[in-house]
Amino acid sequence: MDTARQEPSALLAKAATAAGYAPSILNTQPWRWRVHGDVLELYADPSRQMQAVDPDGRLLVISCGAALHHAALALAAEGVTIDVELVAEGDLLARISVKGHREVTGQAMRAVQDMRLRHTDRRPVFGPADPDAVAAVRQAGTTPGVDVHLLRPEQVSELGVAAAHADRTEILDPQQRAELAYWVGGERPDQSGVPLDVVPPEPSGGPVPGRDYVRAGTLDVSSGNDAYATYLMLFGPGDEPADWLRAGQALSSAWLKATELGLSVLPFSSVVEVAPVRERLAATVLSGLGHPYLVLRLGALDPEHRLPPHTPRLPADQIVELG
Ligand SMILES: Cc1cc2nc3c(=O)[nH]c(=O)nc-3n(C[C@H](O)[C@H](O)[C@H](O)COP(=O)(O)O)c2cc1C
Repeated sequence: MDTARQEPSALLAKAATAAGYAPSILNTQPWRWRVHGDVLELYADPSRQMQAVDPDGRLLVISCGAALHHAALALAAEGVTIDVELVAEGDLLARISVKGHREVTGQAMRAVQDMRLRHTDRRPVFGPADPDAVAAVRQAGTTPGVDVHLLRPEQVSELGVAAAHADRTEILDPQQRAELAYWVGGERPDQSGVPLDVVPPEPSGGPVPGRDYVRAGTLDVSSGNDAYATYLMLFGPGDEPADWLRAGQALSSAWLKATELGLSVLPFSSVVEVAPVRERLAATVLSGLGHPYLVLRLGALDPEHRLPPHTPRLPADQIVELG
């Protein structure tokens, strides 16, 4: 594509739209973009924050960090070179500035294809993930300020207990339960939330129980067994909004690598949402070496089964503003 003929503002608006493919907590898509000339600003959208489940906005900002990473990749695939500044003051989270142009690499094109293919897989995994693929995903997620820990079997058991406790805590709280029910299934006025066709009929068992989605889904989970799964924990030294943004960038990088390598990916965040559970995992699984940002389950995909459908996305005119 001849990017030299496109205005920076058009390229930035296009990248912000492509960043809409990013994963987000309960598919809330809690971001807004503003284009000013050759600068693209990323804002949190507090109206899409899960106030009861995520009162500090931790998962909201991690989601926005994933969108920021997606936008940067979309610009690389247009041959645009950029500066990314993490701001994390109030709702303004980050600023991307256009610097120049360069030749588009095959890797950049591939990353943008993976953005469209990537999705959450809530079925049990079909088999173990190839250890080399797990190592590549860990490497992709190990980014400035973020590390990726591979859980040992006894730590997986600890995580299982923690996830069960965190889910029960949320489900027993009437406000948190109502909030989860709002974002799952049902009818929202826009293209957001988690449809029932990507949710299992009941929370999955296995060593680490899947999230209780409050409503019964229709996803076919006939094959697979999470006894084969590998669990990774993204963590880092800080627990402030700028750290959560970095965690989101790392999440996007790791997840796109897993997509490229054909792995099944499922994030677990209730263990991070419930503060005492998060603090306990920091002490036990991480031995006090950092703050947990998110857990990822990895495994092999069932080659015989169709992938779960893609979740909806907000229209571009609701998330991108031309200033
Ligand atoms: C920060 C974050 C936390 C998430 N936590 C969970 C979770 O605990 N359980 C789950 O099933 N999915 C979780 N997800 C996956 C989202 O629900 C998913 O990204 C969203 O519904 C969009 O669907 P997609 O990933 O298939 O595009 C999480 C995603 C993000 C970015």
